Amino acid sequence: MNLTTNYLGLELANPIVPSSSPLTRDIESLQQLEAAGAAAVVLPSLFEEQIEHEAMAVHSALDYGSEISAESIGGYFPEMDDYNTGAGDYLDKLRTAKETLTIPVIASLNGDSAGGWTLYARIIEDAGADALELNIYLIAADMNKAGPEVADEYLRLVERVREAVTIPLSVKVGPFFTSMAHMAGRLVEAGADGLVLFNRFYQPDIDLDTLTVGPNLVLSSSQELRLVLRWMAILHGRVNASLAATTGVHTSEDVLKLVLAGADVTMMASALLKHGPDHVTTVLDGVTRWLEERDYLSLDQARGSLSQASSPNPAAFERSNYMHALTEYSSKR
Ligand SMILES: Cc1cc2nc3c(=O)[nH]c(=O)nc-3n(C[C@H](O)[C@H](O)[C@H](O)COP(=O)(O)O)c2cc1C
Repeated sequence: MNLTTNYLGLELANPIVPSSSPLTRDIESLQQLEAAGAAAVVLPSLFEEQIEHEAMAVHSALDYGSEISAESIGGYFPEMDDYNTGAGDYLDKLRTAKETLTIPVIASLNGDSAGGWTLYARIIEDAGADALELNIYLIAADMNKAGPEVADEYLRLVERVREAVTIPLSVKVGPFFTSMAHMAGRLVEAGADGLVLFNRFYQPDIDLDTLTVGPNLVLSSSQELRLVLRWMAILHGRVNASLAATTGVHTSEDVLKLVLAGADVTMMASALLKHGPDHVTTVLDGVTRWLEERDYLSLDQARGSLSQASSPNPAAFERSNYMHALTEYSSKR
């Protein structure tokens, strides 16, 4: 079965791309993912906070002659030490991944402001990344900032990074915009070659025993796919950009639904953390079987056939399906 797909101008063997997670951090697990059939990988993000604190630490070391060493710079983020230890380490990992793997390696920058850290996009490009994913993780909690101002911050950030690099650029965003469709179009105008739908914002939790607030990261399930599925279907064919799905992709059925809705690639993190790299092979086998059983010649043939533009029931993706869903639920009980 021909599962090839084009994402950000990269020709990929299939639509399965492991997204940023601890599984894409080390070369051993990256090699396992490649062997299992992953078509490309997205490395964990280099975080704005890490870069800015490294820069500040170097600055104050130079200014005041303090004893700050390369090692102690990493220590500013003890909680990050196991995940991603800073820009130097990040670039080393990126270079090793590029030297070792044959599939495309997508680097990731994660931040929320158009600061000096965006220059790292160029450094990442120079280190050989095939593409860059910009994860804009912005919680709009400032009551003095109206929606359009927040949207402008996103766009400025994309423009800044776009100016810095020539490699393909994707933008990973959350779904919380007043007009998601309009925003998608503007992100593409600002320079995004692809959109990654959607960032999964980790919700803080309160521990009632210790009375502390913590991140409490819980892995996703296929239940979370629906929001992505709706917007994939609405945006397919309407924006001049590649579309990647992330959040809730666990099974071959999830992948097929997203491709029918219009996804160019489907990204996985939780499912691979749960089941290990070989899960890629299981999912690919399931996708191939389904397509063969229905006499498809390629994955491309299926792509977008149930997007909003092609669906015989376009209203299903919008409000008009709402009352129908509610009445159908009550009539079943
Ligand atoms: C432990 C963990 C670490 C992650 N690290 C990153 C990261 O560094 N950068 C990023 O953009 N996304 C990161 N993500 C988000 C995933 O790439 C993915 O978008 C999200 O988990 C939703 O997909 P899923 O349902 O397949 O897990 C992380 C997710 C997990 C579970």
